[in-house]
Amino acid sequence: MLRSAKSILDAMIALALATLLTSLQPAGWDKDVRLAEAVDRNPDPRIVEIDLDARIAPVEVAPGVSVDAWTYNGGIPGPLIRVRVGDRLIVHFSNHLPQATTVHWHGLRLPIQMDGVPDVSQPPVAEGGTFTYDFVVPDAGLYWYHPHVMSAAQVGFGLVGALLVEDPAEQVGVADETVLVLSDIGIDNRGKLDSPDSGGSTGMAFGREGSSVLVNGRVRPRLVARSGAPQRWRIVNAAKSRFFQMDLDGQKITRIGGDGGLLEHPVTLDTLLLAPGERADVIITPTLKPGTELEVLSFPFNRGYGSVEYRSVEQLLTLAIDKQSPYVGWSMAPTHREIEPISTAGATAVNIEFTLAQRPEGTFEYGINGVPFAKDHPISAKPGETQVWTITNKTKWSHPFHLHGFFFQVLDDKGRHVQPLEWKDTVNVPLEQTVRVVVRYDDRAGSWMFHCHILDHADGGLMGMVDVGVPHVDHTH
Ligand code: C2O
Ligand code: CU
Repeated sequence: MLRSAKSILDAMIALALATLLTSLQPAGWDKDVRLAEAVDRNPDPRIVEIDLDARIAPVEVAPGVSVDAWTYNGGIPGPLIRVRVGDRLIVHFSNHLPQATTVHWHGLRLPIQMDGVPDVSQPPVAEGGTFTYDFVVPDAGLYWYHPHVMSAAQVGFGLVGALLVEDPAEQVGVADETVLVLSDIGIDNRGKLDSPDSGGSTGMAFGREGSSVLVNGRVRPRLVARSGAPQRWRIVNAAKSRFFQMDLDGQKITRIGGDGGLLEHPVTLDTLLLAPGERADVIITPTLKPGTELEVLSFPFNRGYGSVEYRSVEQLLTLAIDKQSPYVGWSMAPTHREIEPISTAGATAVNIEFTLAQRPEGTFEYGINGVPFAKDHPISAKPGETQVWTITNKTKWSHPFHLHGFFFQVLDDKGRHVQPLEWKDTVNVPLEQTVRVVVRYDDRAGSWMFHCHILDHADGGLMGMVDVGVPHVDHTH
């Protein structure tokens, strides 16, 4: 009784907030970073139907710095795909690259046939080939898309894009929102893309980072902000290896959401760490003097040997504070989301180790429990089963663990749920440490991949498979 009265009140407050939502930012505040959006050619309001074309195209990443990159629809990143939760998304994909590819929809709980893993969920899309992706988007949040063929090379060449799933019922109370795709690209002094094999096996073991850091495909773009007024940033780390540790020089970052939508409740941070593949939904309300500028930085993060030595701070973007007087009177709406902790009672224990071996000829090979991907045995699961994975990183580099098709919750070393609760599909497993996650499978049968989202590591062997509801096949060689 009390509860329903409260939810009616919540709904009324939400409605009042929604009608009050007007932009508080100066006109054109985000024009330097605003992403091109995919064009919906379907008149049905609940179907978004778009064309997506992978092709090589010249892209200007900084004034006067152009490179022939691998792009979706001619840009880095590809078009922002904007849908509402429950919509059907149809993507007519065509491949004009000189290599086979697929599109993987990172984080989405979709049917296996749409997961974009070559030879597992679909045949690779050959040069000149096409494929239609067609699925319903079940969860609000920021997701992203990228190839799953030669992933390190193709993502590193520019093939990334954001997919924003909006929930009209979600009340955050901030009208001014922008999607920020963080990535990097390696361009040599002749203006050509770096070889994806640079540094050989050692380059693979580290995870190659591009020399230019990009925000929505640009080196150091500008965002304008009014002091005292909130902005909502939906951020994805789409780099193939680089971690971002965002810092606003003392300005607070309020994180309200992560990979799979809103958190149980917001948390306030000084720096925001995003491992490759992870997303964050944050609100920032700069309190700087009008007319000043703030550099949004990324601090070097220790993800293992070579990641901080001789590294300097990187500038992600410039936040230019508008001249008008500070906005007064905004305060954070108390966003709250009910998230049920997945019970670990009776869960199956799955123990895996991330390993790195040196072959006799001196080259490196990553593996799960000492076995590289090509020789892995899949983990099996039944629909409806709950598993607690204990993931031990035996190597000297950190590995962002990503599971396809299902969200998980992170547990601490006592097996308790990390607070606030949130749905994740990617979590960093720091070097020489252990991370536990709990996952409950549903009835979407199939072979679902898990791997490190440092894509060189994935290609270098750090991948595995979970067979959900798939009869056991003996893969013994
Ligand atoms: Cu973004 Cu297989 O992953
Ligand atoms: Cu890794």
